[in-house]
Amino acid sequence: MKPLVYLVRALPGGIPAWLRERVEIRGGAQTAPPRQKLIEEAAGAVILAPTYLDRVDDALLAALPTVRHVASYGVGVNHLDLEACRQRKVLVTNTPGVLTNATADLAFALLLAAARRVADGDRMIRAGRWRSVAPGDNLGVEVSGKTLGLVGFGRIGQAVARRAAGFSMKVLFATPEEVEFPGAERVSLEELLARSDFVSLHCPLTPQTENLMSRSRLRAMRRGAVLVNTSRGPVVDDAALAEALADGHLAAAGLDVFRDEPNVPKAYLGLENVVLTPHIGSGTHETRQAMARLVWEDIGHSAAGEPPAHPVP
Ligand code: DGY
Repeated sequence: MKPLVYLVRALPGGIPAWLRERVEIRGGAQTAPPRQKLIEEAAGAVILAPTYLDRVDDALLAALPTVRHVASYGVGVNHLDLEACRQRKVLVTNTPGVLTNATADLAFALLLAAARRVADGDRMIRAGRWRSVAPGDNLGVEVSGKTLGLVGFGRIGQAVARRAAGFSMKVLFATPEEVEFPGAERVSLEELLARSDFVSLHCPLTPQTENLMSRSRLRAMRRGAVLVNTSRGPVVDDAALAEALADGHLAAAGLDVFRDEPNVPKAYLGLENVVLTPHIGSGTHETRQAMARLVWEDIGHSAAGEPPAHPVP
């Protein structure tokens, strides 16, 4: 009998024929089923394949005791109870590396869009509000030559630093890990906030980073600075950020991730100086398919009794 794999939702590119020969696959609807339906449909599965949008907690693992491998689509693992997986001896894999460039590109796109008022200019034109061409109108913040602070300096943070070099930016980074990176300076978070014109968040969401960008840290950023978040919504205190954008302490923000997606805090919707995107850091055809390929490969390995290539430590 082929091992049973349950896909919480469809992945881009479809399921490869070679995998269908090796495993039986259930699930894979466009949207994730409600929990009880998922438990019924996934009964007997040895591999569960959620995405970064689907919570896997101890209660779910308890309801699916045959699951031995959680093959998660995405690099972030904050939706998974890793401790419960450890306790239950459930292997966890994710899809690191392949989304680095796409996510760094989006972070830089948000940085530029927020600094140069791309989205509010677009809204102004579409609404028929562009009526004068005065030299002092619609001015943004210069990017080239400024200081960029990267909070979290793993693969994606480093890829953003490489992009910043093309804009002659001075790069600072704050991270608990020891990292050497030519041309970038490691500093404390406090120093980074005090010195940076742009701050971009690239840390994983953990109990230590939840609300890391608290009211006091947002206020510790330079007046007129720009914040970019492509990591996870709960890293930022939304009410405090909306306030700092409304009263002009911060010039602008670019946000791709939110606490309760797909809901976006109402406070942001009325602000012209925040650019909002719907969690599309990894959202290119190439990257989303590459992420799916890693999931299929890891499932293939584990179904064959071999160690998958992307275990989460
Ligand atoms: C991830 O992989 O964790 C990303 O947030 C998806 O874009």
